[in-house]
Amino acid sequence: MMLEQLETLHQQAKQAIEGVTDSAALSEWEGQYLGKKGSLTTFLRGVGQLPKEERAVFGQRANVVKDDLTAAYESRATLIKEQMLARDLEEGEIDVTLPGRPVASGKLHPANQTLRQIYAIWADMGFQVFRTREVEDDETNFELLNIPQHHPARDMWDTFHTTAPGIILRTHTSPGQIHAMRRYAPGPLRVILPGMCYRYEQISARKEIQFNQVEGIAVGTNIRLTDLKGTMTAFLQRMFGADRRVRFRGSYFPFTEPSMEVDVECILCNGTGCAVCKYTGWLEILGSGMIHPTVLRNGGYDPTIYSGFAFGMGPERIAMLQHAITDIRYFWGNDTRFLEQF
Ligand code: DAH
Repeated sequence: MMLEQLETLHQQAKQAIEGVTDSAALSEWEGQYLGKKGSLTTFLRGVGQLPKEERAVFGQRANVVKDDLTAAYESRATLIKEQMLARDLEEGEIDVTLPGRPVASGKLHPANQTLRQIYAIWADMGFQVFRTREVEDDETNFELLNIPQHHPARDMWDTFHTTAPGIILRTHTSPGQIHAMRRYAPGPLRVILPGMCYRYEQISARKEIQFNQVEGIAVGTNIRLTDLKGTMTAFLQRMFGADRRVRFRGSYFPFTEPSMEVDVECILCNGTGCAVCKYTGWLEILGSGMIHPTVLRNGGYDPTIYSGFAFGMGPERIAMLQHAITDIRYFWGNDTRFLEQF
């Protein structure tokens, strides 16, 4: 009696699985027959009620049925998987004429592009790159550059201080002049000092708290103001165009005497006047001057024998002019929509 019921269940299950064509129906089938609450499982729980002598025969048969149904389940599952794959391959045509997906590639940051242009020009003129520290001491950043404690000229540089007394983030690359001179004195010196500077500024479209500068310094026994003017002109014309006019304006920096600001004819309006040059026709690019005797002495050169010139510029400002970028905050904003344009 029980055996007959088992056979009927077996038949039913085998028949039912023939009609199963997708994985949802297959798991439903499994639940119905083989699962914890499936009919085979429930049925087998009734074994205990059988007389002892029938139990062994029934148990054996039940195991065979269970194995058979499990095997049927497995092979149906494989079949469904194969059918699905075959259907995908048939329906999902591969269109070999479609354009490929572009591979995203990194690019040089616009500030670095301008920096490299600057390096290349100075390299041609015999200036090598000399890198110095970004965390400076107050002495090198200010005092050795002829800017004493409490001197009003310090107002030109809003400074980030560290918790260590006298240790600051450099506010300009000029302290590199001292490091370079002390490294090479009393020999001839011709280096540029590029790198990041930091100032405690109110961030705006024109001012960032972090920016690059490229400083330059030349020291020798026969370096004059005319050398400074000729060299600055050569650099600016290589950078902005051979016909660009260049002008020098008297200025003040504590570490140079005399000091000059150097302008180039506006590269956007060619000197006719526009919003970028504030209708002056000129763009201010560089600070420069003849190295102050005190600074030369602090660098290890006797100012009665040696002389030199120095200059400093802001590559982000230059990049802004080159690409008509209106806001300096884009440089460290890390917005790829901005960066990808260069
Ligand atoms: N250090 C100056 C600044 O941050 C720029 C500068 C001006 C550098 C004149 C120089 C120089 O070497 O001669 O504003």
